[in-house]
Amino acid sequence: MKDSEDKVGGVVENTPVNRKGAKTVPRRALFKMGLVTGVAVPMATLGSAALGQPPNRARPQQGDFLVFEEGPHQGEVVRPELLELEQKPVSALARDPETDTLRDGSRLNRIMITLIDNEKMSERYRSNAAEGVIAYSAICTHTGCDVINWDAGLLRMACPCHESQFDIYNGGNVVGGPAPRPLAMLPLEVVDGEVKVAAAFRGRVGFTQQF
Ligand code: FES
Repeated sequence: MKDSEDKVGGVVENTPVNRKGAKTVPRRALFKMGLVTGVAVPMATLGSAALGQPPNRARPQQGDFLVFEEGPHQGEVVRPELLELEQKPVSALARDPETDTLRDGSRLNRIMITLIDNEKMSERYRSNAAEGVIAYSAICTHTGCDVINWDAGLLRMACPCHESQFDIYNGGNVVGGPAPRPLAMLPLEVVDGEVKVAAAFRGRVGFTQQF
C-alpha cells in the first residue's frame, strides 16, 4: 500500500533524487525526523517549514480564510450568506491571512463547501460546521478523482469516476460505491462574518494505492 501523498501532494515530491532516480531524504534530516533512531514523530507535528514545504502546498491551517475557487464569487472570501442552502458544493481553497498565499500548490488542498441545515447534521460532526457552512476534501478516497458531482435529491456528494457517494450530513461517510473511507472534513468557524479554518482536516486526505 502506498499513500497518495507520495504521488500528488506531499513530502516525497520535495526531496532530493538519487542517481537511480529514487527520491531520498538526507540522513541528517532523517535523524531530525526521528526516522533513523526509531523515535516515532507524527508527520503532522513536523509542520510545513520543517519539511521544506512551500506555504502554497501546506494543508489548510487554523486561521486561514476560505476563498471561492469557482462560481460567481470566485476569488472572494467565503461568507455564509454567499451560499444557498444545500446547493451543489463548490470548490474553495485556503488563504494564509499573513501573506495572502493561496494554498493552491497541491490538489490535496482543494475542498468542497456548501451550506447545510444544522438541525439535520449528525451531532457528531455538527461542531465542524460554521453557521451552516461545511467543507470536505474534494479528493475521493477511492482513487483520488475530484468529487464534483452532486445528487440534489439525496443530498450526496458523488464521484464521477466510479460513482462513490458521500453523505454530507454524516461526516462525508460513504453511502455508495467503492470508496473505502469517508471524505476528510475541514472544521470551520466564522470570524467577523468570514469563514475561516478552525483546525486541520479531520481524517486523512487522499487515497491509498493498492498494489
Ligand atoms: S475515484 Fe472516486 S469512486 Fe473511484
